[in-house]
Amino acid sequence: MKTTQTSRAAVTGPETPSLEGMYAAIRAATRIPADWQVVVDAVVVGLSGKLPPADEVLREVPAQARQGSDRSQVLHVEPDGSFSVVALISRPGQATSVHDHTTWCAVAVVAGTEYEERFSLDESGQALLLTGTRTDQAGTVSGFAPPGDIHRVTSLGPSVGVSLHVYGTDLARIGNSVRRTYDLPIVEPYEIG
Ligand SMILES: [Fe+2]
Repeated sequence: MKTTQTSRAAVTGPETPSLEGMYAAIRAATRIPADWQVVVDAVVVGLSGKLPPADEVLREVPAQARQGSDRSQVLHVEPDGSFSVVALISRPGQATSVHDHTTWCAVAVVAGTEYEERFSLDESGQALLLTGTRTDQAGTVSGFAPPGDIHRVTSLGPSVGVSLHVYGTDLARIGNSVRRTYDLPIVEPYEIG
């Protein structure tokens, strides 16, 4: 007699993306200690295509953050302190400071569009050189690891920007992953010829 086998995945259907699912994916990607760049690359791959809906993120963010007076909200700190997840809410045109971090960072855009500029310090240490830009639509996940992670992120709209930032540190203990902010003149690249 012919029998039919049904896989568990076919019975239950694809897992609905959620914040808890995102934390589980990060946990899996960071389980094996490795170089920061290797870890953040694994986190980016682990989160791609599995981002929670913006509505779920916004439900976890207090009203004052949704309205833009205090734009960031820590959503999760892993019990062993290995990573933390922060939601950042931005109105169109709002920008972060130019800053870098003490650890690796992965960024997932779940609503709106983000424009990221990356910089390096010039030889004098008194000016910033613009080294690259990228524009990320909702659904994009990117990541980077120090050193060389000086950046600024601007929300381009057209609606409220919602992004999730994953840091490889315990924000309950250290409070903030920003290493330094840079209030320096920015030198734009120029064409030769
Ligand atoms: Fe940052």
